[in-house]
Amino acid sequence: MPNAHTEVWIVDIAQRADEGDRPPDELSWLMAGWLSASEWDGARGLRHPLIRRQHLMGRVLARTRLAHRLGVAPRRVSFASAPSGKPYALLDGAAISVHFNISHSGERVALALAECEVGIDIERRAPDIDAPALARRFFAPAEAQWIESGGPRISQRFGALWALKEACLKMQGAGLPGGLGGFTFQRTGFRHVRTVAVEAAEAPAAVPANWHCSLRALPDYWAAVCTLLPFAQSRWHQITAEALAVS
Ligand SMILES: CC(C)(COP(=O)(O)OP(=O)(O)OC[C@H]1O[C@@H](n2cnc3c(N)ncnc32)[C@H](O)[C@@H]1OP(=O)(O)O)[C@@H](O)C(=O)NCCC(=O)NCCS
Repeated sequence: MPNAHTEVWIVDIAQRADEGDRPPDELSWLMAGWLSASEWDGARGLRHPLIRRQHLMGRVLARTRLAHRLGVAPRRVSFASAPSGKPYALLDGAAISVHFNISHSGERVALALAECEVGIDIERRAPDIDAPALARRFFAPAEAQWIESGGPRISQRFGALWALKEACLKMQGAGLPGGLGGFTFQRTGFRHVRTVAVEAAEAPAAVPANWHCSLRALPDYWAAVCTLLPFAQSRWHQITAEALAVS
């Protein structure tokens, strides 16, 4: 096994004001073999520039990081999707045992790489939402109560839990019975990277006991990763789009 760690990469795709006259980065990504011709063509349907950049950066990040981990040229890595829609990776056209998952929100794109199924979610913080109402609608009753009892931390609790639960659903790919409300979290008390165990009370058949999640509070964003590997083995990196070329 080349690398047993779960690696998480977060890229800031904000464009600076002085980038206005430059050819778009996406063209150089295509020329470098970091995007395939079909990915480039397919993205033309995404009219909103930020949505297009999120999607393309997700593919660039996944291809370059996978290629780096495998020690191959990025052009040899391609992607296909399971019936659920979850993408998986191929090397020279054959499926490989390195797994990945992508998430994007606002000006951040996140990638998780692991040796087993993995899900990642990144969410821009939204302090003005009606968190208690959303929690009652989407989460398990015990979680909604925990959020409502959060006082000034209500929106933080909601954002963190939303990212964690989305990461779990995305690890599963096809989702879980009951969606976000079909399983509950139990905090286990770590201070900085809080880990949580999935409590199987509400979906005993569907939630294995060995899932591991970790959560990061980033400026303006929450990010969570869920995998079958112990959370202590996850490594988080934050980079810029420019740094991809040299990292
Ligand atoms: C589909 C889904 C993953 C999109 O999530 P989102 O919060 O809107 O968006 P995110 O930015 O976190 O993730 C989007 C990325 O996840 C990946 N993805 C797509 N479908 C996926 C799936 N079923 N499982 C895991 N990852 C998926 C893709 O890479 C996608 O980005 P891309 O289209 O630019 O390549 C979300 O609806 C979800 O979590 N579903 C849970 C699984 C599920 O119920 N699927 C129903 C289909 S059967």
